This record gives sequence, C-alpha cells and structure tokens, in this order.
Amino acid sequence: MALIELCSESDLDHNEARLFSVNGLDIALFKVEDNFYALDDLCSHGPGSLSEGYLDGFNIECDFHNGMFDIRTGEVTAPPCMDPVKSYVVCKQDGKVFIEID
Ligand code: FES
Repeated sequence: MALIELCSESDLDHNEARLFSVNGLDIALFKVEDNFYALDDLCSHGPGSLSEGYLDGFNIECDFHNGMFDIRTGEVTAPPCMDPVKSYVVCKQDGKVFIEID
C-alpha cells in the first residue's frame, strides 16, 4: 500500500469535483463539507468523466447518460450504470490529500 498525494485540502471548494492524473490513474476527487472522496474518473458505463459530472450530495451524476454513483463507495445509485466504479481510501495529513493505492 502506498499513499499518493493529490493536492492540498484548500485546493478544492466545497461540493467541487476535480480530476487528478497520478501514477497512471485518473482519479475524480470530490469535496463534500470538509471530507474528500475519490473514485476512478471513468464511468463504468461508457466514456463519461465523473469529475465533470453533477455532484448532488453524495451522488455524482455522469453527464453522458445520467447514471449515478455514491461517491463514498462507488456503488451505482441510478441506471443505466450497472457496475460500480473503484473507490479509494482518502487520507488527510498536514493539509494535504492523499489516496491509498495497492
Ligand atoms: S457513460 Fe456514464 S452513464 Fe453512460
């Protein structure tokens, strides 16, 4: 397991989503209240980029076909998506935001 730094906590506004490309991964990072959540950016249904979707509470709506995922788990919350997207454990240390990768 390794920690990969994405950004500073203050880099994202509340209810903002942003794409980070690190270690060959495209990660959608979401900030809701003071917590961060990270998913694979690529929608499991097609070419949608989840960081460009519409964030509503803990749901991210893909802007391609309006499928939705829970940003806390990556589980599908609305069709047409069928498969979850990978979620990552997020850690905050010294004002920085990291994800855990295997
Ligand atoms: S590509 Fe995301 S819902 Fe179809």
